[in-house]
Amino acid sequence: MDRDQLRQRLQFYQDLGFKQIYRRDATAIAEPVTAPVAALPDPLPTTNIEMAKLPDVSLPPMAPAGDSLLRIIEDIGDCHRCRLHEKRNKIVFGVGNEQAKLVFVGEGPGADEDAQGIPFVGRAGQLLTQMIEGTSKKEGIPLLRADVYICNVVKCRPPENRTPEADEMEICGQFLFRQLSAIQPKAICALGSTAAKALLGGKDGVTRLRGRWHKWRDIPLIVTYHPSYLLRPYNQDAKREAWEDLKKVLHFVYD
Ligand code: URA
Repeated sequence: MDRDQLRQRLQFYQDLGFKQIYRRDATAIAEPVTAPVAALPDPLPTTNIEMAKLPDVSLPPMAPAGDSLLRIIEDIGDCHRCRLHEKRNKIVFGVGNEQAKLVFVGEGPGADEDAQGIPFVGRAGQLLTQMIEGTSKKEGIPLLRADVYICNVVKCRPPENRTPEADEMEICGQFLFRQLSAIQPKAICALGSTAAKALLGGKDGVTRLRGRWHKWRDIPLIVTYHPSYLLRPYNQDAKREAWEDLKKVLHFVYD
């Protein structure tokens, strides 16, 4: 790897939110090269990376060529990377068609998902299934839940279903990004503010982001309300808007 390639790779990790990288094997090297990515000047310079130490740098593969969902699951392993592992029962990786043209991204598993290891199987999940299958049927699109792919920003249930914290999203986000890169769907539907924030950055909530197209990398992305929000009885307007958003993304992908 030459200096430019290393610089690009470090920039890539920095863009993904990595704060630190580590050598895999520290024993053979006199001087560590564990420069915190956050401490590197932004933009990264091309000149101050010490080439003599490069062969010892072992960066984790980020969406490497030939990445697959299976490989990502293997890399997640029995994950202890953040505090969410402490109370989880099951890691909830994702479910559906690995070659799906449409991916739905939620926030994180709830109690039912944590027990079964499958995303969106509780009440919100039933509503999501109804939204996908009911809307597509009405629109004349032959589509079942099993035809799309469904996953979350964090793979372990946050205690008391709290919103995932920034560091948890950052750590687990690398796996979400790899899932999306491996699947390469035609479009992504972000369900709720947490998914929107993980994929688009920024602070805007669903109300500001919904109703128009965004992009994650080069993939068109729609933001809509989280099904849990739509389950609340007083959110009739939001329900109507969510159905509009869903129609928009379904026609874009399947027409
Ligand atoms: N809410 C989510 O965001 N994801 C799930 O899997 C279930 C509920």
